[in-house]
Amino acid sequence: LNHPANVAVIGTGYVGLGTAGLLAHIGHRVTGIDIDQNKIDMLLRGEVPIHEPGLDDLLSSQGDRLTWTTDYSAVRDADVIFICVGTPPGLDGTPDLQYVVSAAASIAEYLNGNAKVIVNKSTVPIGTGDYVQRLLEDHTRAFDPTRHFVVSNPEFLREGTALGDSLYPDRIVLGGQMEALEIMTQLYAPLIDQTFSPPKGAPRPEWFTRPAVIKTSLQSAEMIKYAANAFLALKISFANEISGLCERVGADIEEVAAGIGMDQRIGQRFLQAGLGWGGSCFGKDTQGLISAGREHQYEMPILQAAIDINYRQRRVIIDKLLRHLKTVKGKRVTVLGMAFKPNTDDLRDAPTHDLISQLNRLGASVTAHDPIAMKRAEREWTHLNYTPASSIQEAFERADAVILATEWDDYMTMDWNPLLATMRRPLVIDARNVIRSPINALVEQVGRDAPRGERRRAGAERA
Ligand code: UDX
Repeated sequence: LNHPANVAVIGTGYVGLGTAGLLAHIGHRVTGIDIDQNKIDMLLRGEVPIHEPGLDDLLSSQGDRLTWTTDYSAVRDADVIFICVGTPPGLDGTPDLQYVVSAAASIAEYLNGNAKVIVNKSTVPIGTGDYVQRLLEDHTRAFDPTRHFVVSNPEFLREGTALGDSLYPDRIVLGGQMEALEIMTQLYAPLIDQTFSPPKGAPRPEWFTRPAVIKTSLQSAEMIKYAANAFLALKISFANEISGLCERVGADIEEVAAGIGMDQRIGQRFLQAGLGWGGSCFGKDTQGLISAGREHQYEMPILQAAIDINYRQRRVIIDKLLRHLKTVKGKRVTVLGMAFKPNTDDLRDAPTHDLISQLNRLGASVTAHDPIAMKRAEREWTHLNYTPASSIQEAFERADAVILATEWDDYMTMDWNPLLATMRRPLVIDARNVIRSPINALVEQVGRDAPRGERRRAGAERA
C-alpha cells in the first residue's frame, strides 16, 4: 500500500466523519461520500452536520487531504473503501441493512480490478461481511473477483469523545483474510505506532502508549463489536439492578460500585447507576444479538434482562417524583438535559424522551432544557408536549420539581441555590447521581441517600 493511500469513506454520520478526519490526519488522501446532497453541501462550506467536540477543527485543518462529494465514482481511485453508513433498527428490532447493501452495490459498479479493500465499520449483523464479499464478487466476476477483500473493522468510539476514542483506542480490531489485514495494518501504521502529532483539542493522554491490534476472522470481528456493547450495557444494568436493592437495604450504590470496581477483574467504569443507557448503540446492539440468537433458536436471557432493567429505570425515576408530589397533574415538572448523554445533541433512545412522554400521560406540564440538543428536539420530538426553556434560569422558575436527566457540565457547575429559590417547591430528582454536596432542596438520588443539608428537612416539609 502506498503512503499516503487513497481512501474513500462512504457515509458522513458520526463514524464516517470521524473516520475521514482520522485517516486524513494520519496522512492519507480521503474522499468522503454521501448520497445526501445537503450534508455534502454543508461539509463543502466547512460546516459539520453533527455536534462533536473538536470535529470541526479536525476536519477543517486537513486542507487538500480531505474532499467531499456525492459522486460514488470517487471510489474508483481508492485503495481502501470504508463503509460507514447507518444500520438503524427496523420495525422488528433487527438492524436495517438497506444502506449497507446499497453502498456495496454502488461500490461494485465502480470496482475496476485494482486491488481494493472494502472495510465495514458500520455495526452489522454477524455474517454481513461475508454477504458483502459475495455481493461484490457477483458484480465483479467478469474481471477479477479475487482482488478485493471485505474487512470488518468495528468502531468503538463514544459520542462526545469520538476524537480521543479514535486517535487513542484501546484496540484496533481487524477481521478478514490475512492479505487484506496486512493492507489495513499498513494503512493504520501511523495510528498503531502513534507517530502522528495530536490535533488541537485531542491531546494524547499521558498514560497512552499504543493500541493493541487484534487480527481475526470476519465473523469474530463482527461479534466483538456486538459483545463489547452488550457487555457494557449489561454492566450499567447490573449497577442499576443493584441500586434498587441498595435503596431498600440502606446501602449506597456509589460506594458499592466503587468497592466492586476496585477489583481489576470488574473495573470501575460503566457502573454508574441512574437513568440507564440511551443512544444509538446499546439498545440496538443488545436487541441485535437477541435477534441473532433467535435466528439460531438460541435464547439470550441475560441480554433480555439487561434491556428490561434499563427501561424500567426510566419508570423508577417517575415513581420517585410521584412519591413526593403524589400527583403530577397540572404540576410544572422540569427536565434538565435532553440528549442521551452530555456533549452531544444526539436524541436517539434518549431517556428524556420517555420521561417527557410518561409525564405527558400523567398530565404534568413539562418544561425541558438542554444546552445543545434543544433545536434538534424541536425538529424530532414534535409528538411530545413540553415547553423548551431558553435558559437554565427559566427552566427552574416556578417549577414543582426538577429532574436532572443528563449530566451536562452546565448543570454540574451551576450555582444551585439561587435557582432553587425560584422554584415553587425545591424538589430535585438527580437521575444521574451527580449532586455531591448538599443544596437547598429535597434531593432524591438513585440507590443512595442524597447528600444531606440543613435545609433538607425544611424542603421535605414543604414537599
Ligand atoms: C457506546 C459505546 O461506549 C461505544 O464503545 C460504541 O462504539 C457505541 O456505543 P455511546 O453510545 O456514544 O457509545 O455512549 P456511552 O458513553 O457508552 O454511553 C451510553 C449510555 O450509557 C449513555 O446514555 C450514558 O448516560 C449511559 N451510561 C454510561 C450509564 O448510565 N452509566 C454508565 O456507567 C455509563
